[in-house]
Amino acid sequence: MSEINSKNNNTGKSPHEWFWLSESSEQTEKFGFLLGKLAKANDVISLDGDLGAGKTALTRGIAGGLGLTGYVNSPTFTILMEHRTDKSGRMPLFHFDAYRLADAEAFYEGGFDEYLGMGGLTVIEWGELIADALPELTLYIRIERTDYDKPDQRKFSLSWPGCPERLTRVKEKFEDESIGC
Ligand SMILES: Nc1ncnc2c1ncn2[C@@H]1O[C@H](COP(=O)(O)OP(=O)(O)O)[C@@H](O)[C@H]1O
Ligand SMILES: [Mg+2]
Repeated sequence: MSEINSKNNNTGKSPHEWFWLSESSEQTEKFGFLLGKLAKANDVISLDGDLGAGKTALTRGIAGGLGLTGYVNSPTFTILMEHRTDKSGRMPLFHFDAYRLADAEAFYEGGFDEYLGMGGLTVIEWGELIADALPELTLYIRIERTDYDKPDQRKFSLSWPGCPERLTRVKEKFEDESIGC
């Protein structure tokens, strides 16, 4: 992952936070790919950030890292896109867009919480809207634009409050793969 720019890595303000800068959608997808490779069954990733921040781009990379070959699009009009392992992939991806869910209650009412324990990886765009329904071990990722002069730059803020060790593992892997050659 030599193209991922790690020069802005730091440990964040708290030991449970980590920031890095993506310079392109390709870098974002590569980072997603790494997250997909490191994912375990029943993991949950909450993605936040404005429209066009890169939540779906990241999810596309995550799907690739799981070995899923189907096309990952924004599930905006469906709330949930299921990517099963019929053709490929080491575990299913349950890709949510919570934008049209009012709150955690709507998530429960739709029966969507059942997916959290179905042995796949759950990725939830706009996860903060249903924050109360997210499990304790959720990985939180916020994606923000940085500078109007740098339209392709995004700041990633990651925290995994229920399991900081796994965030450290992601960081270490990221740094390993950023070392060139
Ligand atoms: N560094 C970057 N990371 C992710 N997307 C980027 C980046 N730079 C530019 N983009 C562009 O921003 C858009 C992100 O769209 P998308 O992933 O659908 O956002 P969201 O799902 O957050 O609404 C895409 O058009 C992508 O090409
Ligand atoms: Mg999206």
